[in-house]
Amino acid sequence: MQKKSIAIFVVLVAAYLIIPATSFAQPYGYEGTQVCGMCHKTEKQGQQLKIWQESKHAKAFATLQTPEADKIATEKGFKTKAAETKECLKCHVSGNGVDKALLGAKFKMEDGVQCETCHGPGSAYKSMAVMKNKEEAKKKGLVVSEDKAKLCTTCHNSESPTFKDFKFEEMWKKIAHDVPKG
Ligand code: HEC
Ligand code: HEC
Ligand code: HEC
Ligand code: HEC
Repeated sequence: MQKKSIAIFVVLVAAYLIIPATSFAQPYGYEGTQVCGMCHKTEKQGQQLKIWQESKHAKAFATLQTPEADKIATEKGFKTKAAETKECLKCHVSGNGVDKALLGAKFKMEDGVQCETCHGPGSAYKSMAVMKNKEEAKKKGLVVSEDKAKLCTTCHNSESPTFKDFKFEEMWKKIAHDVPKG
């Protein structure tokens, strides 16, 4: 009896030591739009790459490099240029504030608001085998937003210095990138 309870104790301690280490798995890395675009560019897939490239999200970093943006940053009391101000970068670029080791070789901050800003960092879900299985992809970090408008308003809100209003239907039409049915 004595030995048995010691054995149980040892097992519990071991479990306590091992479980936390494995549940804090390595965070997922950002691959960059080019990597997602390798597959998401054909007509059959819905040309997500092209739709994104033609959207303002692709230009969101370039926008911060304009004199207009610097003027806004100065008015807000920041001493740095807009493109170097983390309070501006937070909504205008992907992977902002992320450990550099988690940014893949093809990742470019200049790409602004990217696929992975909305769909989650893709290092673990980007492979064809995982991508074809939606549930598996979600387990590996893919974000599928049930409430689209809620996602948009994390950035499209009055914290944005140039914010006027946000009409979801109208705005979604400008960036919609569904996979064609059939
Ligand atoms: C190796 C090819 C490949 C790469 C790379 C890839 N995808 Fe996919 N992705 C697919 C395929 C295939 C599907 C399934 C599409 C379908 O339903 O026909 C898919 C589905 C998706 C879906 C839809 C999930 C759903 O069913 O709602 C999203 C969102 C997505 N990918 C985002 C991304 C992002 C973001 C990246 C970059 C990190 C990426 N993909 C990289 C091939 C790829
Ligand atoms: C501003 C946010 C945003 C960006 C940027 C974005 N997406 Fe999406 N995407 C969404 C939302 C919202 C949906 C609909 C719900 C969902 O699947 O998450 C969606 C849906 C999709 C789907 C599934 C479409 C369907 O018919 O099921 C694919 C595939 C996809 N996105 C790929 C991409 C790729 C690839 C990029 C980059 C080239 C990208 N997205 C950029 C927000 C975004
Ligand atoms: C991570 C922050 C972020 C998220 C999330 C986001 N956006 Fe944006 N969006 C921006 C920024 C920043 C700009 C301004 C880019 C520029 O002008 O350089 C922008 C611009 C736009 C524009 C162009 C503005 C115009 O008047 O034509 C549209 C359309 C748009 N977003 C739609 C959406 C929709 C729809 C969603 C949700 C599915 C969404 N965005 C989610 C940051 C975001
Ligand atoms: C809460 C998210 C958020 C923050 C923080 C933010 N922006 Fe933006 N920014 C946006 C969105 C969304 C848009 C596009 C729609 C709009 O104007 O609200 C945008 C658009 C812009 C535009 C283009 C306006 C136009 O009329 O085309 C400029 C310039 C800009 N932002 C500069 C800045 C600067 C400079 C900062 C930092 C002081 C900053 N933003 C901080 C979300 C943000």
